[in-house]
Amino acid sequence: MDEMLDSKALRDAARKSLWLNFGKDASYFDQPGAIIVAGEGSSLTDDRGFTVLDTLGGQASSTVGYSNPRIVKAIAEQAGRLALNPSGWPANVPAIRLAERLIDTLPPAFGKVFFGNSGSDANETAIKIARQYHRIRGEAGRFKTIVRRGGYHGSTFASGAASGYTHRRRAFEPLPPGFIHIEPPYCYRCPWGLQADSCGIACAEEFRRAIEFEDPASVACYLGEPTIGGGGVIPAPDGYFKRIRELCDRHGILLIVDEVITGLGRTGEWFDFPAHGIVPDMIVLAKGLTSGHAPLSAVIVRSEIAEVFAGAPDRVIQHGFTSGGNPLSCAAALANLDEMADQALLPKVKAKAERCAAWAREMHERHHLVGDARVRGFMVGLELVRAREDKEPMGSVPGFRDAVTRLGREQGLLLFLVGTTLLLMPPLSMSDAELDQVLRGTERVLADLEALFPA
Ligand SMILES: Cc1ncc(COP(=O)(O)O)c(C=O)c1O
Repeated sequence: MDEMLDSKALRDAARKSLWLNFGKDASYFDQPGAIIVAGEGSSLTDDRGFTVLDTLGGQASSTVGYSNPRIVKAIAEQAGRLALNPSGWPANVPAIRLAERLIDTLPPAFGKVFFGNSGSDANETAIKIARQYHRIRGEAGRFKTIVRRGGYHGSTFASGAASGYTHRRRAFEPLPPGFIHIEPPYCYRCPWGLQADSCGIACAEEFRRAIEFEDPASVACYLGEPTIGGGGVIPAPDGYFKRIRELCDRHGILLIVDEVITGLGRTGEWFDFPAHGIVPDMIVLAKGLTSGHAPLSAVIVRSEIAEVFAGAPDRVIQHGFTSGGNPLSCAAALANLDEMADQALLPKVKAKAERCAAWAREMHERHHLVGDARVRGFMVGLELVRAREDKEPMGSVPGFRDAVTRLGREQGLLLFLVGTTLLLMPPLSMSDAELDQVLRGTERVLADLEALFPA
């Protein structure tokens, strides 16, 4: 840690000048771990020298851990050569190499990559591509995007409108029109009260009903995460995405998968969509591209869709970002992909995923607080409830959220309760010993919470 750091002065300056995101106020700076000054591997050190394990891997960005030396070196070397997009065009060598490399990891259908800076802008890019694609083909009436409640796609106006969290929408209304929300495949709280094995995937049929209600000729695209990540680790059941694909094909609707969390190794595969037996029309990536070391996003588009934009000046897309696909970020992404391959990270993630799945089942058996335990790859969601019978969300009980944070710190863990679900999405490279500490420490926290907040 920087020995010259005056923690009190830093906190005072932060309270005075720094506007925090997502509902945090100045009291945030009173917590230990509020200001992180260094990260290495899976550990973070705060301004007071306190070290914790990050169980959420930089909001699920981290593949190869914090301050990965190979990525740091690649960024430094690229900075000495070309550090920004000349005049805003991402036609730089690392961007070209990266586009090629991403396409090589995918089925042959995919042909073009559009780079941006964040998951939010990438989702907007994908939606714009869908709208313009239909317009070029003479279907300008197709402008609607069908999305799920509880899904998250970003914080800008359109990506925020696409997201399904009411508390992140209300203050900014009216949001852009053309976003239709349907129920997610959330079996634990199925809105129809159905059982997963006999429901006929009612949530996918809800998509059919929405298309019919809205008028199929007005729908441009469906946008969804293969597994809802930040919204509580909610994997789509078998057959869900096949039905979505079928309905998209029948009605000429494009299928966009938001793999900002699930892509690039989080499930133990490069992408989550193949496990659902579908090929989407566009794939949205961000976070894990650079292991969070530099801002970068990508929309990967099927060749036949990209080709529609070629051949006439009025067809080209009038959309882009000054720093999208900048050389520093793309160099970081290439180094990240090399590092992931050299560490043979994907099979290791699968082994961790199995361990997490067994552990999550035990937590569900041993702790009444754990109403539902969901695991997909190296993503765990423990939905915490007062009692199994009424499923009252503990996240809204006064004091509960702070207790999770405080008890987590006592175990040397940075824990995150999102809504009422405790999320674990550590860096993919987390060591087995660190994962032991995460699982043991989290169980201790669950036991302490049950003592503090009896059913
Ligand atoms: C699935 C998903 N899509 C999009 C985003 C938005 O990404 P960003 O915060 O980089 O704009 C997030 C962020 O958490 C996400 O989880």
